Amino acid sequence: MCGIIGYAGNKDAPEVVLKGLKKLEYRGYDSWGIITGNFDLVKNIGKIGHIQRHDLNLRVHTLAIGHTRWSTHGGVTLENAHPHLSQDKSIAVVHNGIIENYQQLKAMLQKEGFVFVSETDTEVIPHLLQKYYKETQDFKKAFKKMLNKIDGSYAILAIQKGNRGIYFARNGSPLVLGVGKNEYFVASDVPAFLEYSNQVIFLEDNQYGTIGTEEIGKEIQIFDLKTHKKIISNIQTINWKLEEAEKGNEPHFMIKEIKEQQETIRKSVEQSSETFAKTVSMIKDARGVFLIGCGTSYHACLSASYQFAHLAKMHINVVLASEFRNYTSFLNSKSLIIAVSQSGETADVIDAIKIAKEKMVKVLSIVNVKGSTIERLSDHCINMQAGPEICVVSTKAYTAELAILSLLALTLTEKIEDARKKILENISCLPRLIEENTIKLKKLAEKIKNQKSIFIIGRDIAYPAALEGALKIKEVSYIHAEGFAGGELKHGTIALIEKGTPCIILATPETRNLIISNAMEIKARGGFIIGIDQEENNVYDETIIIPNSGCGNALILTIPLQILAYHLAVARGCDVDKPRNLAKSVTVK
Ligand code: F6R
Repeated sequence: MCGIIGYAGNKDAPEVVLKGLKKLEYRGYDSWGIITGNFDLVKNIGKIGHIQRHDLNLRVHTLAIGHTRWSTHGGVTLENAHPHLSQDKSIAVVHNGIIENYQQLKAMLQKEGFVFVSETDTEVIPHLLQKYYKETQDFKKAFKKMLNKIDGSYAILAIQKGNRGIYFARNGSPLVLGVGKNEYFVASDVPAFLEYSNQVIFLEDNQYGTIGTEEIGKEIQIFDLKTHKKIISNIQTINWKLEEAEKGNEPHFMIKEIKEQQETIRKSVEQSSETFAKTVSMIKDARGVFLIGCGTSYHACLSASYQFAHLAKMHINVVLASEFRNYTSFLNSKSLIIAVSQSGETADVIDAIKIAKEKMVKVLSIVNVKGSTIERLSDHCINMQAGPEICVVSTKAYTAELAILSLLALTLTEKIEDARKKILENISCLPRLIEENTIKLKKLAEKIKNQKSIFIIGRDIAYPAALEGALKIKEVSYIHAEGFAGGELKHGTIALIEKGTPCIILATPETRNLIISNAMEIKARGGFIIGIDQEENNVYDETIIIPNSGCGNALILTIPLQILAYHLAVARGCDVDKPRNLAKSVTVK
């Protein structure tokens, strides 16, 4: 995925767009580019975070669009960086998404003499616009014609020389308008312009329009791509605080977001009882429930399946969204899928929902980003209320997802007020846990930072926590890490244990006896044993003591692993908030 932003108003547009791109960098950071209304253009490889306004060779202007890229079609080169220009250099385009039929369109345009300078799918858009503008002499008509020609997912911004206004379109990739006083924004996500406006319009798929045209009363126009009728959209007020999208006093978003978790878990479970009541009745009425997600969200699903089994005595199927298509024979109108996604944009999850909908399956979703595709595809959606998660690596969204799912599991057998109280009491230890263990975890990170592998084992609810902890370590510190069910290591992977190999043991009161036996097996082969436990044990070479938090243990266990992953990354000099090769949401299958 990529981040895009456009601004039309009285401020210095390059500055607004530059700041916006910095806020959107979590969406991609291979390369970036900005173009202004008078077609001053700057593009660069790498991250935009350190760039200042005076570094940009762009004259002051009141209109600009920009892009920060996570490459899909074509490598990380200056030619592939957006904005892309039409052949006559009169039209500029930024795009997030994939144009699926770009090869056919490219071949057609090449036959007509258009020369492509990049390997991107995007470049067909400005060339098509040039072609259709030549035919119609009307940029709006050309824009519509271009949209009718392209297939795939997109959020597009286009500007034309001498034409005041930014043309936008959305289909399958997020795009939100910001409305200020005589100024207008259009971006992939709200934090990009939250500093200036919290008045927003979430665009729907198949909508297009313009902002910033000089015609009075037509400063914002939105149309339906199928009917071409004008759409009157409600302006919503976003209650996110600016500080939520800022690092504050912390050096990185990751550690700020780890520390926010008591508050974000509270917000996630303290939502209206009606929201949850509807969900609980959907679960009770269903015959066959599937929890689906990817990556960290999948781990939250897996962890929740243990909660449903233990607390509600209910079997729930947990399926990786990308594998869901193999389960279609078990779907009917009585089935329910619970789709879990921080971004609400993950292509594999969207694909699974579409497959389910073909079988008339009901869709419940748990999503953090408001106005997302997954939210709109669902019959009912619970918002996570975790606030913007800026670090590419997910932490607070994981615990918000799991807290909501745990609340649902508990609410199947007890009153929601009691369930909510139980969760909140169980996680009240969080700030102390973080404070008391951070120095120890930092020292531990220093000690093991040069190891080639780290293993984490846990049983029961500690098993998904082990998987999640290993994912955190891998993605942020680039150390190979694997999570295992305690009983599994001896079935093969124990062959990798050498003298000093760090093995983290996640213990709970229910699983301690067995997991300690597994720890002994590893110690006997020379492993360096780190216990995350409610008590000391002779087998541990190092111990991180955590409280026994009852049904909150699934949430609590992951926190020391998040902190360890963070300090491993810092100790190894990694780019904590923007790990290599990753993007905040994966909008490709
Ligand atoms: C890991 C991480 C990813 C995401 C996964 C799903 O830290 O961020 O594994 O969890 O790509 O993303 P969402 O939750 O947005 O569907």
